[in-house]
Amino acid sequence: MTEAMGRLRASELEDSGDFGNNPSSNLTMGEVIATRFNRRDLLKGSLAVTAITATVGTRALASTTPPTSEHPNPTFDFEEIEAGVDETHHVAAGYDAQILLRWGDPLFPDAPEFDPQAQTAEEQCRQFGYNSDFVGYLPINGSSEHGLLVVNHEYTNEELMFPGAGAQDPEDAGFHEALRERVAIEVAAHGGSVVEIERQPNDRWKVVKDSKYTRRITAETPMEITGPAAGHNRMKTSTDPAGGRVLGMINNCAGGLTPWGTWLSCEENFNGYFWGKLPEAHAEIANSRRYGLGRAAYAWGKFHDRFDLAKEPNEPNRFGWVVEIDPFDPSSMPRKRTALGRTKHEGAAGIVNRDGRYVVYLGDDERFDYVYKFATAGKFDRNDRAANFDLLDTGTLFVARYDPDGSGTWLPLVHGEGPLTEANGFESQADVLIETRRAADLVGATKMDRPEDIEVDPKTNRVYVMLTNNTRRKDDQVDAANPRARNAFGHIIEMMPADGDHAATGFSWEVLVRCGDPSIAEVGATFSSETIRNGWFGMPDNCAIDSQGRLWIATDGNSAKATGRADGLWALETDGEGRGTSRHFFRVPAGAEMCGPFFTPNDETLFLAVQHPGEAEEGTPATFEDPATRWPDFKDGMPPRPSVLAVTKRGGGRIG
Ligand code: FEO
Ligand code: CA
Ligand code: CA
Repeated sequence: MTEAMGRLRASELEDSGDFGNNPSSNLTMGEVIATRFNRRDLLKGSLAVTAITATVGTRALASTTPPTSEHPNPTFDFEEIEAGVDETHHVAAGYDAQILLRWGDPLFPDAPEFDPQAQTAEEQCRQFGYNSDFVGYLPINGSSEHGLLVVNHEYTNEELMFPGAGAQDPEDAGFHEALRERVAIEVAAHGGSVVEIERQPNDRWKVVKDSKYTRRITAETPMEITGPAAGHNRMKTSTDPAGGRVLGMINNCAGGLTPWGTWLSCEENFNGYFWGKLPEAHAEIANSRRYGLGRAAYAWGKFHDRFDLAKEPNEPNRFGWVVEIDPFDPSSMPRKRTALGRTKHEGAAGIVNRDGRYVVYLGDDERFDYVYKFATAGKFDRNDRAANFDLLDTGTLFVARYDPDGSGTWLPLVHGEGPLTEANGFESQADVLIETRRAADLVGATKMDRPEDIEVDPKTNRVYVMLTNNTRRKDDQVDAANPRARNAFGHIIEMMPADGDHAATGFSWEVLVRCGDPSIAEVGATFSSETIRNGWFGMPDNCAIDSQGRLWIATDGNSAKATGRADGLWALETDGEGRGTSRHFFRVPAGAEMCGPFFTPNDETLFLAVQHPGEAEEGTPATFEDPATRWPDFKDGMPPRPSVLAVTKRGGGRIG
């Protein structure tokens, strides 16, 4: 979700309040801006080896061998595009970007064609959803040319979806205009899609419409709540007195795939879907505040009691989780895995640790919130898929503290340990998880500049954390891991688990790059000197690592005004002389942000998502009738359509 949106949605959901929602006094490390030595030399040669290799479905996700040379990953080889903004997308020369799935495309043989003038909720349930964010590819029989695509549909832009809806009014969020059917369509356009796809001999991908796997998940799909918070009193509502079932997932941003072939879909800015006020002196008031509840960006509460805080004060506790979905079984019930904590989850980057435990890295996208990881208690069983299905219900959640000397500690969030006791209002692990943020405040985690996506390079065990921006960090709040006040362009941190052990509590880290325009000294960007006009970017958000271990970064928040360029995809060197060199591969049309990215195991197809094309940019309202672009159809009367693209190299071969 972009920061530049012209309505309450962005400014209040992703950046609630003037100072985020974190009132704790956790260390800003005072005046310490450590001028640190480059730690890479210290790390060389300390990388661990593991025997576990990747298995079903997903590439990587398992550690293999350490780099044996100065340059473990090959450098990029493509001609970069021009940075800029216009009404369409651009991809590097020699590549094709096929529009594979657009909002409203029928997914089932009996689904109606998309008609934006007469859309219904029933139709939307059978058509591709809105604002695609995470995209994952799960091979069928190990194939890079035939598999399942899983896609998150994060949020909706009513002003662009519905004729006559008008521009979004930041003072009103369109509530007065909210109509029952529009809300029903929004509810149906959220969630996710599972689609079977096949690469054709002409290199184009095709959607298999009569696939047995096709599935639409919406904000009303029944889901099971599992793990330590399931069944707790604070999870109970009038329609679910057992606290174990919830309807739907909302604001699913990024995610991940597990090596047992399931999809982790992460609920991010769930707070904006709830309106109304908690009853006075209600026990959930402090919890509610810490997650930014109380200012709705959607009018769902007008028609659904559960989205009204006055009527269902516990309903928000049932959102903000990581949802695990088995795309190979369309009848399976998605599961909200409470053991992984309740935050505004960005994504879920997993790796099989060398001891067989599964470790998931998680970012909480809010100004001054935290980086987390979860380590399972059990071990991944590569020979028995079903044996892994409840692996994510038991384990330890940790939050990161980054120390100025380039070391760091994972602090466990375990009931009864340290301050996480009854004296502080935590009666059980369920309380710790429902109030993950407060637990993290108390143990002394480092307040970050909006942690977005995280990825692990299985070749080197390095972990990459995207910190998108935080313009509200003041001079006296600067610290080594968040080294810039008024950080408008974000930065990327590289972490290394102690001895290559992802379950360990120790790690080392350094800032890989401070983003922004390197030609303006005051910006303080640290791209390599090779990175010139087109290569730099601001606001890193989603990211991917290809099978050769190379880092690709998608951005959210660039615009003509912010950086003189549209959002897009950049390839960033992480090794050797070229470390910190970035190149521009793809850019989105006006108003959009770049999501995905995801590679097939053979690196020959790169899936990208173009989210909210045509959305208003600062000061320029956008409506159904007058959007910033009509990408990708460019037809009168057809609004812009968020879409998933399949990028391939002309004549075949690996991307980049
Ligand atoms: Fe939905 Fe943090 O971006
Ligand atoms: Ca973002
Ligand atoms: Ca994001």
